[in-house]
Amino acid sequence: MCGIVGVLGNHEAAPILVEALKRLEYRGYDSAGIATINDLRLDRRRAVGKLVNLSDMLVHDPLPGKSGIGHTRWATHGAPNAGNAHPHRAGGVAVVHNGIIENFRELREFLATKDVGFETDTDTETIALLANYYRDQGLSPRDAAEQTIARLEGAYALCFLFDGHDDLLIAARKGSPLAIGHGEGEMFVGSDAIALAPMTNQITYLEEGDWAIISRNDVEIRDKEGNIANRAMKIIRIDTARVDKAGYKHFMAKEIAEQPTVLQGALAHYINHDGTAITLPEPGLDFAKIERFSMVACGTAFYACLVAKYWFEQLAGIPVEVDVASEFRYREPPVTPGTVALFVSQSGETADTLAALRYMEGKAAKIVSVVNVPESSIARESDLPLPILAGTEIGVASTKAFTCQLTTLAILALQAAQARGRITDAELADKLANLRALPGVLNLALAVESKASELSRKLAEARDILFLGRGAMYPLALEGALKLKEISYIHAEAYASGELKHGPIALVDKHVPVIVMAPRDALFDKTVSNMQEVMARGGKVLLITDQKGAAEAGDGVWNTILMPEIDPFLAPILYAVPAQLLAYHTAIAKGTDVDQPRNLAKSVTVE
Ligand code: F6R
Repeated sequence: MCGIVGVLGNHEAAPILVEALKRLEYRGYDSAGIATINDLRLDRRRAVGKLVNLSDMLVHDPLPGKSGIGHTRWATHGAPNAGNAHPHRAGGVAVVHNGIIENFRELREFLATKDVGFETDTDTETIALLANYYRDQGLSPRDAAEQTIARLEGAYALCFLFDGHDDLLIAARKGSPLAIGHGEGEMFVGSDAIALAPMTNQITYLEEGDWAIISRNDVEIRDKEGNIANRAMKIIRIDTARVDKAGYKHFMAKEIAEQPTVLQGALAHYINHDGTAITLPEPGLDFAKIERFSMVACGTAFYACLVAKYWFEQLAGIPVEVDVASEFRYREPPVTPGTVALFVSQSGETADTLAALRYMEGKAAKIVSVVNVPESSIARESDLPLPILAGTEIGVASTKAFTCQLTTLAILALQAAQARGRITDAELADKLANLRALPGVLNLALAVESKASELSRKLAEARDILFLGRGAMYPLALEGALKLKEISYIHAEAYASGELKHGPIALVDKHVPVIVMAPRDALFDKTVSNMQEVMARGGKVLLITDQKGAAEAGDGVWNTILMPEIDPFLAPILYAVPAQLLAYHTAIAKGTDVDQPRNLAKSVTVE
C-alpha cells in the first residue's frame, strides 16, 4: 500500500513532507522516511514504526533542504526494518514507491550481470539501482528514469529525487494512484490529494502509464507511448482538518459517533426535501432492462454488497451475484448483456476492486460504483459513481463508510423496486420515511455504548467469539466478526444461524461467547431456535435484539443489548452500531492500537 509524497518548495521540505505523510499514514505505518536535496546533496532519514519515530529522529538529526520525497510503508517485500524503509537510495538516486514490482527478481539478475549488488530485501531498491545504473552509463536523470520505468512490471506510483538536482522530481503511475499538486512557484506529488491539501487544492491526476517531469514552475506529463499528455488540472474541495479527532480518544470512536450526522447528509443527497422521491445523478439506470447485478468489493465493502443482495433480490426482483474482488478478477466470469457491474469501495483505490472494474469495462458492462472518495480511481472510471458522503474515514476499521454504503445501496434498491413496479407509491413513501428517521434511531442505538463497554471487558477475555445472523443479518454477523478480529486480535467467526449445526456448533462451549444478531424480522423465531441450540450446549449467548425480541426469546441468555425497534429492511444499518461498539471497546479493554491495528492499512493498493 504505502503513501508517497514529493515537494519542490520554497521552504524547508522536511516539515511539509512529514505533515503530508501524516495524512497518508492510513496507507501503512510499518516505517517512514524522507530524502531531501540540500546544497545539491542528497541525504535521507528513515525510522521503523509509526511516523512519530521519524519526527523524533528529525528533531535530533534534522534534514535541511527545500526539495524532497517521503514515504510511509506497508511492508510487502522485506521485513519492516530500517534497512528496508524508503526512500531507497543507490548512488545519486533516491526513490519512494507504492506498489509491487513483479519482475524485480529478473531486474536483479540483470543488475547482477553488471556487478550491481543489493542491500535490502525490497523490490523497490531495484528501481533505485536500475536508475543509478543508467546514470552511471551517462544518461540524464530524465532519460535514466524513462529507461527504468520502461522496464518495470507490476504496480507502482513512484517519485525520484536526484543528487545535484534541486528543481527536479520525476513521478510515474501504473496501477497505483498519484496526484500532482500545483502551488505558487512550488510543486507537490502525493498518493492522494488529501496529502497535499494543506499546500494546494489544484490537482492534476496522472493516468495509467503516465510519467511526469516536474520542476517548481512546470510539469511535463508523458503517456505510456511517450507522447505529451494534457491532463486537466482540477480544483479539489477537501476538508483540511481531517486529522482532527474532535475530542474523541480515537478516530474510530469519532467516526462511530458521527454516523447519524453523515447518514443524514447522504439521505438528503438522494431523497428530495419532502421525502417523496429518490434522485440519482445522471446518467441514471434503466432498471427495467437490468437482468442482473454483479457486485464486487473487498472486506467490509463486500459485506455491504452481501446485505444489498437481499435488498435487490427481495425488493426489486433483480438477481445479484456478489464476489470478493481478488477472486472475481481472475475467475474470468462470463458477462451477459443486461448485467450491470456495481463496485463498492470506501477508498475507491482498492487494487483488486479497481482491476475487477477494468475487467468489467473490457466486457462493455455498465459500471456503477458506490464510493466515499469522489476523486478516487474507481469513482473516476465509473459510468455512474454514487457518493456515500461519509466524509473522510481515518480509522482503519471501517464504520461510518459501511453504514453510508448500506444506506446508498438501500436507496438504489428502492429505486429499482419502484422502477420495476415491485412496490407501490405508498410502500415507497413508507420506506423512505423509515430511512429518513434512521439518523434519529442510530442516535438511540449509540446510547448502548456504556453497556457495550461493560460487556466488552468480558469479551476481551475470550479466545474465540462466534457471531450468528440470518438473512440480511448474516452479512452483518460477518461484519461484526471482521470488526472484532481486526482491532482486538481475538479470533472471531460468523455463521448463518442455520448453518451452525452443519459443523461449527462443535466449537461451542462455555468459554466461547456467541453474539446473536436478531432483529424481530420474518426469521426471528428461527434465529431464536438456533440460539437455543447454542445455549443447550452451554454456549454463552449475547443477544442483540429489541425489547419485544428480548421478551420473546425467553431466559437463559448471558446478556442482551437492546436496540430500538426498526423496519427489518433497515436493521442491517442499525445493528452495525452495536457490532462496532463491541469491537471498539473490546480493543480498548485489550489495549490494542484501535486506529492503526497491526499489519493493516486503510487503503489496499496492492493485490
Ligand atoms: C475493514 C475494512 C476493510 C475494507 C477493505 C476494502 O474494517 O475497512 O475490510 O473494507 O479493505 O476497502 P475499500 O472499501 O476502500 O475498497
